[in-house]
Amino acid sequence: MLSTEDMAVFCKKKGFIYLNSEIYGGMAGFFDFGPLGVELNNNIKRAFWKEFVQKRDDIIGIDGSIISSPKVWEASGHVENFEDIILKCTKCKEQYRADHIIEDVLKISADGMPSQKINELIKKNNIKCQKCKSELEEISEFNLMFKTNVGPEKGNTAYLRPETAQLIFANFKIVSETSRIKLPFGIAQVGKAFRNEISPRNFLFRCREFEQFEIEFFVNPENFKCPVINEFENMGVNIITSDMQKKNQKEKSMKIKDMIKNKMLNEWQAYWLGSFYNFFTNYGIKKENLRIREHLKEELAHYASACFDIEYKFPFGWKEIHGNADRSDFDLRQHIKHSKKDLSLFDEESKKRVVPCVASEPSQGIGRALLAFMFDAYDDDKKRGNIVLRLDPRLSSYNVAVFPLVNKLDNGSRQVYNALKSKFVCFYDSSGSIGRRYARQDEIGTPYCITYDFDSEKNKDVTIRHRDTTKQKRIKIKDLEDKLLRLINKEINFDEL
Ligand code: GAP
Repeated sequence: MLSTEDMAVFCKKKGFIYLNSEIYGGMAGFFDFGPLGVELNNNIKRAFWKEFVQKRDDIIGIDGSIISSPKVWEASGHVENFEDIILKCTKCKEQYRADHIIEDVLKISADGMPSQKINELIKKNNIKCQKCKSELEEISEFNLMFKTNVGPEKGNTAYLRPETAQLIFANFKIVSETSRIKLPFGIAQVGKAFRNEISPRNFLFRCREFEQFEIEFFVNPENFKCPVINEFENMGVNIITSDMQKKNQKEKSMKIKDMIKNKMLNEWQAYWLGSFYNFFTNYGIKKENLRIREHLKEELAHYASACFDIEYKFPFGWKEIHGNADRSDFDLRQHIKHSKKDLSLFDEESKKRVVPCVASEPSQGIGRALLAFMFDAYDDDKKRGNIVLRLDPRLSSYNVAVFPLVNKLDNGSRQVYNALKSKFVCFYDSSGSIGRRYARQDEIGTPYCITYDFDSEKNKDVTIRHRDTTKQKRIKIKDLEDKLLRLINKEINFDEL
């Protein structure tokens, strides 16, 4: 597999992603999207939004502000709890982020672990300085929220949101009332989140500014039954339970219904984990590179009563790309307490006013999904002699590229290109040999290339070439739009053309 550094170089070279402020030496943990990256990133967000919001009747969307009243973050517990511990060696003075040293030494995930639990683990396992083996001391707790000041007067502290979720809780009452949606239902949001990470690393994996797609799925606290669980209950997933992690076992395949039967999680949490796992495989991630990992009790975030991650097998190990927590009624209760507002609603089924529970919170990092898609799609095809980025055609930056066989066919070829432009993201290329032009499109993941040649002039048809197989077919220009649309949406495959 390609190293993370090589992936970052590839992304820069091809115009996907650049380190922010590079002309000034760069800004660690911040990235900018180039012309291809912005398309890919938008396609990923659109795919999540379409699949989990627009196609459903039980999810509605919002787009909240990045800065909120600081009271939101006091109520949510982020002001008090959203911090990392920094450790320093008493002898050589080397500094460590406590959860990273736990991950490196104990081989367990400590992401989001509360400071008290981190201290316990360091002491219990007698973790020492990795360089000189001397004692470590805690030097500080560092809150990960970025602070800013609102307006010209000093003292008006506010925070950039560290998760999109709290906007959903803070708007819960008005959104549920104005949309007249009934329990069980979800509210979704996609947008930026900011965390002042102590050691951003692994390219897009751990940044200081990133995007999340989150759903808070609310249910009656007395009814966690999922009436649509049959969609996924027979689906097999790779899973590593907390027990298996303690016994150092490898992940194994398990059906979603067996996870429920073993009381590992509630039905809605199982349903949403299944939906997102299914999304990733449906959008091309290889099954062997995905697994679900149950959180150990000691790593549960302050708001979670059960949590599962979907992990991807990156070159730097199995790592979380998606989190799914049972948040109970923790957040709504906190906002009721702090705002002194009634955030209950009337449940039609039980005919009672209830404070709903979040049975499941699917929380998806967009950058981590993008990175997983890129690693999975990257294929250094030795036979072909070039890289082939085998992205799902619904995600690729360009849908189609159009070439004239020779420059004197530019007129006719441009007419085809201009007609396609209103429906597709297209690229026009008339320079270099046709082979070189195909290779350039393979490398950036364009699924289909159209070549306009001498026969096109008289027969009103063109050649369409399939990135993944290099197969070519003739297709009438008048059918191009319809056929391309169906190919890209995977309603037909290339052989059926
Ligand atoms: N609302 C719950 C929540 O924010 P989280 O596990 O802290 O939970 C959810 O984050 C997802 O956000 C992660 O699975 C990951 O995909 C993404 N994420 C979190 N921190 C990130 C970072 N520093 N850089 C990039 N993505 C991050």
